[in-house]
Amino acid sequence: MKTKLERFTMERLSEPADFEALLRRDVREGLTATPKTLPSIYFYDDHGSDLFDQITELPEYYLTRLETEILEEHADELISRYCPHELMEIGAGFARKTRILLSAMHRAGVGDAYVPIDVSDAALEHAGAALTDTYEWLTVRAYIGDFGTDLHRVPRGGNRIVAFLGSTLGNLAPVDRPAFLAEIAASVADEDVLLLGVDLVKDESTMVAAYDDSRGVSAAFNKNILTVINRTLGGDLPLDAFDHETAFFPDSGCMKQSLRANRDVTATLSDIGLTIDFTGGESIHTEWSCKFTIDGITAELAQAGLTVTDSLTDRNDQFALIVATK
Ligand code: AVJ
Repeated sequence: MKTKLERFTMERLSEPADFEALLRRDVREGLTATPKTLPSIYFYDDHGSDLFDQITELPEYYLTRLETEILEEHADELISRYCPHELMEIGAGFARKTRILLSAMHRAGVGDAYVPIDVSDAALEHAGAALTDTYEWLTVRAYIGDFGTDLHRVPRGGNRIVAFLGSTLGNLAPVDRPAFLAEIAASVADEDVLLLGVDLVKDESTMVAAYDDSRGVSAAFNKNILTVINRTLGGDLPLDAFDHETAFFPDSGCMKQSLRANRDVTATLSDIGLTIDFTGGESIHTEWSCKFTIDGITAELAQAGLTVTDSLTDRNDQFALIVATK
């Protein structure tokens, strides 16, 4: 029997990015562009991660609940059909939903390793310690890295389920999806199976409510990006001058989150010597949350060289877990 320490390793896939240098560059580029835009990755400081956690529990935010439900219903059958040696997870975070699959592996006596990749070493540390505690048979080989650029650096393992959950794919701009899906396909070996969680296009009011809840948690989450920028770059962006806005774009199937200036604003980011003017009504695009159809994602995966073998949905076809192989 291996000790707990022997069962949990963590490795960096690339040099740690200089977070503040990237933020300075992205903010300067984004806020001097027309239209103004900010990358959604900057939502997630400690407070932002906490707000996202709260979002997953909101009555309006159906995504996490439905994906959990689908996983619970199909985990045993997925594990016994594919008999994975390992579960790899892209963008693992705290790995809550992962436990559903690991418990199914436990029940079936199948597989012995969990291979998460995430940017947050704190989240991986936490998940690795907790999971090796719960599952005495489990080895965790965690990789710290950016799944946008580092996926190909994860060493291959035999017969994996590669999970990419939470409809995180939807946060990419549609134009960036083909290249990213090709990256994913390259990290899926012939004997592997991809498990992809995607939110499905549905009636607009349901989607809008998920990103504009009655308690204002989504609004606070969106505005937190301004707090992150003010703190990190010595800024004075006034939070009360921006309103949370969300809209659905039927042509791309995407929800788009923005912050709209409710008056003329001049703000300064003193650490980068940048002064920005906003005219009343002007907005900063902060996030895409694109939705999918089964046919659409099947075609996109086919373009990337992956074949959909199954699509598991909740009873109202609101969310899907797509199963695909090479
Ligand atoms: C989990 C990152 C996919 O887009 O639905 C929630 C993030 N943004 N509410 C999503 C989010 C606003 C979420 N992702």
